[in-house]
Amino acid sequence: MNSKISNICCIGAGYVGGPSMAVFANKLPNINITVVDLNKERISDWNNKDLEKLPIYEPGLSEIVRKTRNKNLFFSTELKQNIAKADIIFISVNTPTKTSGFGAGKASDLRWIESCTRTVAEFAKGHTVVVEKSTIPVRTAEIIKNLLNSYLKKESVNSNKKTFSILSNPEFLAEGNAIKDLESPDRILIGGEDETSIKILKNLYTNWVPENKIICTNLWSSELSKLVANAFLAQRVSSINSISSICECTGADIQEVSKAIGTDSRIGEKFLSPSPGFGGSCFKKDILNLIYLCNFYGLDQVSNYWEGVLKINEWQKKRISQIIVEKLFGTLYGKKIGVLGFSFKANTNDTRESPAIDIVTDLLEEKAKISIFDPKVTKDSIDNELKNALFKLKSRNMHNIENSELKNWNYCEDINEVFNNADALIFLTEWEEFKSIDWEKVSSLMRYPAWIFDCRSIINIDKASKYGLNVWSLGKSK
Ligand code: NAD
Ligand code: UGA
Repeated sequence: MNSKISNICCIGAGYVGGPSMAVFANKLPNINITVVDLNKERISDWNNKDLEKLPIYEPGLSEIVRKTRNKNLFFSTELKQNIAKADIIFISVNTPTKTSGFGAGKASDLRWIESCTRTVAEFAKGHTVVVEKSTIPVRTAEIIKNLLNSYLKKESVNSNKKTFSILSNPEFLAEGNAIKDLESPDRILIGGEDETSIKILKNLYTNWVPENKIICTNLWSSELSKLVANAFLAQRVSSINSISSICECTGADIQEVSKAIGTDSRIGEKFLSPSPGFGGSCFKKDILNLIYLCNFYGLDQVSNYWEGVLKINEWQKKRISQIIVEKLFGTLYGKKIGVLGFSFKANTNDTRESPAIDIVTDLLEEKAKISIFDPKVTKDSIDNELKNALFKLKSRNMHNIENSELKNWNYCEDINEVFNNADALIFLTEWEEFKSIDWEKVSSLMRYPAWIFDCRSIINIDKASKYGLNVWSLGKSK
C-alpha cells in the first residue's frame, strides 16, 4: 500500500464535507482535495465567485475558501474521475432518519451511503482508503465492506486490481463554530482494523492536530462514540431545560443555577444554556438511531432513558408556545408576533429541526400573524420548513392548521419591520445583534400591552422593562 497521499475525494458537499475539506486543503497544501456532490446547484454555489453566496454560512469559511479554491480545493459534480484518482475517500453524505418502512421514525436511512459506496466500488482504482465521516448506525462499516467486496468478487473475473480499507472517522464539528472546531478539535477519532490505513489518516491529521488528541479505537467503538457524544450533549440541554421550568415555579434563576452547577469541574460549564429546545440535523436523529439500536438488542430500559431526552425537548417547545398564548390573554387571533431568529442556533443559516419551526407552527395554528427576521436564513428556507412541518402534521392528523394560515407569516429583510405594531416579540436564536436592541425605539413601535419572550437569555430585562414592556424570560420567575 502506497502511504503517499496525493488526492483526496470527499463525497457530499454539505455542512460537513464543505467546511471540513476547506480546512483540510488549507492545512495540507500539497494534497489535491475535491469535494463531489450529485447536487449541481450546491456545487455551483460552492464555485460561486461571490464568496457571500457560498451554500453554507460559517464564520471564517469564506476566507479559507478564497485561499484554497481552485488551488488545491475543488468542487465538482464529476464523481467518477475524482473517485478513480483518490487515495482516500471521505464519505460525508446525509444519513437522515427513515420516514417509511421498517424502522421508520428511528432507524437511519442508509440509501445515500449505499449509493455512494456503490459508486466508489465501481470507479475506484488501486488501493483506496474509504473513510466514514457521516454519522451512521453501529456496524455500518460492515455494510460498506460487504458492498465493496461484492464488486471486487465480480471484477476479479476481469483480474482488475483494486483493494479497499475502511475507517471510521466521525466528525464532531458544531455548526457556527465549525472552522475553529476543525482547526483545533478536542479530539480526532479514528476507528479501524488495518494499522497501515489508520496510520495514513493519522499522519494527515498530525499536520495540524497534536498526536495526543488522536484517539484510535476499533471500528464499532468509533461508530458508537459519535452517537453517544451527541446523545450526552443533547441530554445536558434537556436536563437544563427541564430545570428551567422548575426555576420559573420556584423563584430560582436558571442563569444562577447554571453557573452554580457548572463551576463544579465534574459537571463543567458548557452546554448548560437553557433554550427553546435543541435543534439541528443531528441530535434528534442520532438519539433516535441509538434508541433503534437499543430496541434491536432488546435493551428497552436503555431506549426509554434516551427517549426521555427527546420528550423533554418536545415538551419545552410546546410549553413555550402555551406560555405565549396564556400571556396574550389566551388568544393570538390577528395579533402580530415578531419572531427573532429562525436558525437552530446562532452563526449558521441552517434551519434543520430548529425549535422555531414548531413554535411558529403552533402560533400560526393560534391564528397569529407572524413576522420573522433572521440575519442569515433566507425566506425560501423558512417557507420550506413551515410547509414541511404542516405536511407532516396534517399527514398525522395532528393539526387543524389550514394552508391559508401558512400564509399568515411574512419575512422581514429589516429587523425594524418586526417591531412595528407587534404585540409580542419572541427571541428564538441567540444572534449577537439581538443583544444590543434599542428598547426605547422598539417600545415606541410596539402595540401595548407589549410582551417580550426571551427564550435564549439574551435580553437585558431591566432595560426593556424600563419602557413598560412585559418581559418573560425562560427559567426566570418574573
Ligand atoms: P448535508 O445534507 O448538508 O450534505 C450531504 C450532501 O451529500 C448533500 O449535498 C447531498 O447531495 C450529497 N449526497 C448524497 N448522496 C450522494 C451521492 N451518492 N453522491 C454524491 N453526493 C451525495 O449533510 P451534512 O449536514 O453535511 O451531514 C453529513 C453527515 O455528517 C451526516 O451523517 C451527519 O449526521 C454528519 N454530521 C453532520 C454535522 C453537522 O454539523 N451538520 C456534524 C457532524 C456530523
Ligand atoms: C452538535 C454537536 O455539538 C457536534 O459535536 C456534532 O458534530 C454535531 O452536533 C453533529 O453531529 O451534527 P450542532 O448541532 O451543530 O453540533 O450544534 P450545537 O452547538 O451542539 O447545538 C445543538 C443545539 O443545542 C442547538 O439548537 C443549540 O441552540 C442547543 N444548545 C446547545 C442549547 O440549547 N444549550 C446549550 O447549552 C448548547
